[in-house]
Amino acid sequence: MEGFIVRKARETDIPEVMRINVETLPENYWYGFYKHLLDNWGEAFLVAEVGGKLVGYAMSRVEEHSDPVLLGLAVELEEEGGVLKRIVSMLRSLGEPRPVGHLVSIAVRAPYRRKGIGSKLLEETIRVMREVYKTDSIYLEVRVTNEPAIRLYEKFGFRKARIVKGYYADGEDAFIMVKRLK
Ligand code: ACO
Ligand code: ZN
Repeated sequence: MEGFIVRKARETDIPEVMRINVETLPENYWYGFYKHLLDNWGEAFLVAEVGGKLVGYAMSRVEEHSDPVLLGLAVELEEEGGVLKRIVSMLRSLGEPRPVGHLVSIAVRAPYRRKGIGSKLLEETIRVMREVYKTDSIYLEVRVTNEPAIRLYEKFGFRKARIVKGYYADGEDAFIMVKRLK
């Protein structure tokens, strides 16, 4: 395969990013959502290109949270749960909100997978969150059965931090995975 490059997205890339998203994931968004992410957090809206063709993207936003799970300071998986831990966690959530990166969506077209493109998109997202947006952590939701994605995230130091029951439209649960950046 020819080499690939990862670069910041431009507004004219959005229609092709939307096509990749529809091809690869059931979670789809309208044009204005992509435009909003690009306008506000453009440094973290990335595309991967092979020979002038878009083959992948990663898009993120920055949010403010005091939830210690999203900040990468606590894990709240069910097996480690319990009422006391939840109360402690709620109390810790009363702290000042901090900037947190949210990886909204990442995908690579099927014929271009397992070549390191997803890794490069994720690595660059982490770098931008750390160096440009100076977030305390980065988090994402992923289907509990999406092993390729979960492995990719674990490879970059994300840890399963919470399960959200029935998060997806079809009823599947999500893991929230978090990487602390500080
Ligand atoms: N099975 C097992 N592990 C895998 C697989 C797989 N099919 N694919 C990737 N991995 C893991 C491996 O550890 C791999 O490293 P290795 O190849 O050295 O073993 C590592 O991830 C990195 O692989 P890359 O080649 O860098 O990743 P790729 O370009 O294939 O992209 C991605 C991975 C984005 C998850 C791709 O499979 C994809 O587009 N899937 C469909 C869309 C999707 O599920 N996106 C994530 C949804 S969650 C969210 O967006 C926040
Ligand atoms: Zn999300």
